[in-house]
Amino acid sequence: MNNPAIQHLLDIDSLSFEQLNALLDLAAEISRDPGAFANRLEGQIMINLFFEPSTRTRLSFEIAAKRLGMRVVNFWSESSSSVKGEALIDTFHTLTAMGPEVITIRHSRDGVVKSLAAEADKACHIINAGNGRHQHPTQALVDALTLKLTRGDVAPLVVTIAGDIEHSRVARSAIDVFRKLGAAEIRLAGPEELLPCEDIDGTEKFTSLDEAARGADVIMMLRIQRERFGELELPDEAAYFETWGLTPQRLGLANEACVVMHPGPVNRGVEIASEVVDGEQSLIRQQAKNGVFARMAVLLTLLNKA
Ligand code: CP
Repeated sequence: MNNPAIQHLLDIDSLSFEQLNALLDLAAEISRDPGAFANRLEGQIMINLFFEPSTRTRLSFEIAAKRLGMRVVNFWSESSSSVKGEALIDTFHTLTAMGPEVITIRHSRDGVVKSLAAEADKACHIINAGNGRHQHPTQALVDALTLKLTRGDVAPLVVTIAGDIEHSRVARSAIDVFRKLGAAEIRLAGPEELLPCEDIDGTEKFTSLDEAARGADVIMMLRIQRERFGELELPDEAAYFETWGLTPQRLGLANEACVVMHPGPVNRGVEIASEVVDGEQSLIRQQAKNGVFARMAVLLTLLNKA
């Protein structure tokens, strides 16, 4: 695998088309025979530096790293010296001084991961594991890989992303990755309060899920990210589900082969019906499985062992 060097993975936009495809090709190769890559990064150390909760991202990074033979150290912000007032930059310098090869960072503020990466020395690779509303690049790789493995090619697909787009780093990374891969259409659907005010290049906004679902090949549902906004008048969960929940009936408006995605965590009965989560068109569990392969590909690429 010949992939140009990538020092840090901070967002999707910074990847060239060739780098993106090389990462996806490598992840697909790993998915076919993960054992062939066992212990390629033996002895190297990864720190998970998470300041927000996570199930999928943190654990799949940990499993990916361990499958590659890395040693993993988890930083728990609530039991760290952050609670004694240590500034983030001092925590970061303390950790980099200990010599890990990789630090994954999740933080609630948009600019934090990029500014910390600028402080890292060459021997340490930084991976954005989700920052504020800005980016979640490894989730976008997971989503693109999942479509590549199930649909072959993203280019001919009509993709609908629905729910809370405004507060979603997943949406921003997904838009970037699908646009880079040449998706036929990218539709953004949600109540006006949860749609971005600005127009996003290469996308079209919808304020009806029925309309956005009609003719779609992929529907990606997003939860409402209440932790990212203060006062916002939103309908209660039952009323939201009535208008914005992906039900089997609404899914029936999409193309017959339409697949359903969700980055998780899923709120059943709010943005998506249980029957759809567990239904035959759902790729949600495959997304979780592919999370390990995509992150193995990222680690191998950054550490130049692809
Ligand atoms: N998709 C995602 O980022 O999930 P977690 O918050 O559980 O990591």
